[in-house]
Amino acid sequence: MTNTLKAPNNQAETPPPSASPLLTFYRSSIGKKLITGFTGLALVTFVLVHMAGNLLLFVGRDAYNAYALLVSNFHVVYYAFELALAAIVLLHAWVGIEIFWRRRQARPEGYSAYQSAGGASYQTLSSRTMIITGLALAVFLVIHLRTFRFGTYYPTELGGDTVRDLARLVIEKFNEWPYVVGYTVILGLLASHLRHGFWSALQSIGLLNREIRPLAYGTSAVVGVGIAAGFLLLPWAIYLGWVG
Ligand code: HEM
Repeated sequence: MTNTLKAPNNQAETPPPSASPLLTFYRSSIGKKLITGFTGLALVTFVLVHMAGNLLLFVGRDAYNAYALLVSNFHVVYYAFELALAAIVLLHAWVGIEIFWRRRQARPEGYSAYQSAGGASYQTLSSRTMIITGLALAVFLVIHLRTFRFGTYYPTELGGDTVRDLARLVIEKFNEWPYVVGYTVILGLLASHLRHGFWSALQSIGLLNREIRPLAYGTSAVVGVGIAAGFLLLPWAIYLGWVG
C-alpha cells in the first residue's frame, strides 16, 4: 500500500528567503503600526501649519494671498512637497486599511472585539470608528482639492504682480451654507480621528510609558478638538459676515 500522507506544509509561516528586509518590515504588524504612526504625525504637522496659514485671512486678503504666493514661489520645492504629501496620505490610508482588515480577519466570530487587554481601557467611539472617519476624510480630501487647489483661478494684483486670488475663492465658497455645514461635519470627524490617532501614533512609535500615557491621551483630545476648532473659525466667520 502506498503511503498517501504528506509532509506538513510550513510555507505560509516561513518568509521566502528572497524577501528584502524592507518588505519583511512592511509585512509585519509592528512595521505597519510604525508606518501609520510616523505618517500620521507628519500629517498632523501639515494640518497644524495649514490651519495657521488659513487664519491669515483674518489679517486680510492680501496677507492670505501673499502667503499662498510665497509658498508656491518655491516651485521645485513646492511640487516635491506636494508629491511627498500625496505619498504620505496614500501610504497612511493604505496601511491603515490593511491593519483594519487584518484585525477583522483575526477576530473570532461572535466575539466582542472591544475589550481591553488589561489595565486602563483606551477603547472609545473614536478608536472604534477610525476606519470610517479615515475613509470619510479621504473622500473629503478629493472634494477639497477640487474646490481649492484646482478650483477657479481668479487673478488679482499684489505688489505690482498678477497673482491667484485664493482669498476670493475661499470667501466665495464659505458664503454658501452647504460648504459651512459640510466643513463643520467633516472637521468633527477630523477631531475624532485625531483624538485617537495622535496618542496612538505616539504609542506605536514607542514614546509612551505607563506614567505619561494618561497625559498623552488627554493631550490627544485637546489636539483633535483644537485643530478642528482652529479650522472652523474661518468658515463660520466668513458666513456670519465677520470676514469678507
Ligand atoms: C476651513 C478649512 C480649510 C480651508 C479654508 C482650506 C483651504 C485650502 C486652500 C485655499 C487650499 C489651496 C492652497 C493652494 O492652492 O495653494 C488648500 C489645500 C489643501 N488642503 Fe485645505 N483647507 C481647509 C481644511 C483642510 C483640512 C481639514 C485638510 C486635511 C484634513 C486640508 C488639506 C489640504 C491639502 C492636503 C491641500 C493641498 C496642499 C497643497 O497642495 O499644497 N485642508 N486648502
